[in-house]
Amino acid sequence: MQSFELYNPTHISFGEGKIAELDKLVPQDAKVLILFGGNSAKSTGTLDEVKTALKQRDVVEFGGIEANPTYETLMLAVDVIKQQDIDFLLAVGGGSVIDGTKFVAAAALFEGEPWDILLSWGGKVTQAMPFGSVLTLPATGSEMNSGSVITRKEFKSKLAFMSDHVYPQFSVLDPSKTFTLPERQVANGVVDAFVHITEQYLTFPVNAPVQDRFAEGLLQTLVELGPKALTEPQDFDVRANLMWVATLALNGLIGKGVPHDWATHMIGHEITALYDVDHARTLAMILPGMLDVRRQGKKDKLVQYASRVWGITQGSDDEIIDAVIEKTREFFEQMGIQTRLSDYGLDNNSINEIVSQLEAHGMTALGENQDVDLAMSRKILERNL
Ligand code: NZQ
Ligand code: ZN
Repeated sequence: MQSFELYNPTHISFGEGKIAELDKLVPQDAKVLILFGGNSAKSTGTLDEVKTALKQRDVVEFGGIEANPTYETLMLAVDVIKQQDIDFLLAVGGGSVIDGTKFVAAAALFEGEPWDILLSWGGKVTQAMPFGSVLTLPATGSEMNSGSVITRKEFKSKLAFMSDHVYPQFSVLDPSKTFTLPERQVANGVVDAFVHITEQYLTFPVNAPVQDRFAEGLLQTLVELGPKALTEPQDFDVRANLMWVATLALNGLIGKGVPHDWATHMIGHEITALYDVDHARTLAMILPGMLDVRRQGKKDKLVQYASRVWGITQGSDDEIIDAVIEKTREFFEQMGIQTRLSDYGLDNNSINEIVSQLEAHGMTALGENQDVDLAMSRKILERNL
């Protein structure tokens, strides 16, 4: 196992009715900016529930944070914070609203041009405003991690930053808040969480059996419950377990002491920035080709994944790997998510554009061995055309 530091200060308040806990979690004398997305926080009643829980506190609202939150919109929230002397932020929404709030929390106290937060991968962040979140969409793990992904429209750039200063102080996870999600978002969440796990698990063995078995347990739970969330959309236990799996998939725990890949995510970010495809769908259209092209370096873990998650043990290593890649593709398709670039109207010309953007953003040595160069990224995309 590799050496590691583990730090995660986020308080989780999990269960039905837990929004009422906000009265204890948010400082009594705070002037709060509630940040939310398009219309769902209002139409579902969650925003009203949050405001009721905040009681007499002074509250200002900032709505309109997009899916794949933009620098352009978020800088407007930074202006509101400065004009209104806000001292606490509360994100109400999915990964986009929470990621956006992390950026706003850092940008409001940043000296210089806040886009440098992204260009430095968060290295230049030295402080951030305190904030918490009310999660309405299980998917990203943003509610319990220090990462954030921000898009700058004018540059067609979607970049990530990480900083210990942007862990949420707390996150409220009420599974009943996910009943209003459209099928498409439920499916996106399952596939995103699945790929978060494979990015930290499908690399090479480092004798870390606890991390492996945590990862395999989370993957098996997604395989079992993902389809149920679509066929039994009102089942509270299914929603509760999915919510917790998605958090555990990317709260840092399973990734400690093991190598990480993230090439699928980095290529996926370029596809979202260029063509506005949902984040999870970009992952589904890349992962099968990624595993196929890189099967040699990932062989031991792919065979272990096949056996322990899917029960595939018969045949040569290559036959086992072919079968498990197919199973993975079928699982995404079963969730209603297509897995080829052409399913989304992308073609060879799109591949040229994606590869150019990877180059422009310095994404030229991706993966656990930094061997995913531009030529390999092109091959991976072509494999999944
Ligand atoms: O905008 P509104 O009207 O609120 O609608 C949202 C949005 O359109 C809707 N929604 C959310 N909760 C709902 C609901 N609709 C009905 N009922 C509810 N309870 O769902 C739509 C999608 O929301 P979004 O927040 O964009 O989805 P998700 O949570 O999947 O977040 C995706 C973003 O997170 C980033 C992605 O790149 C993408 O920008 N990621 C962040 C990560 C992190 N911080 O660690 C890791 C991930 O890899 C991911 O990259
Ligand atoms: Zn993701």
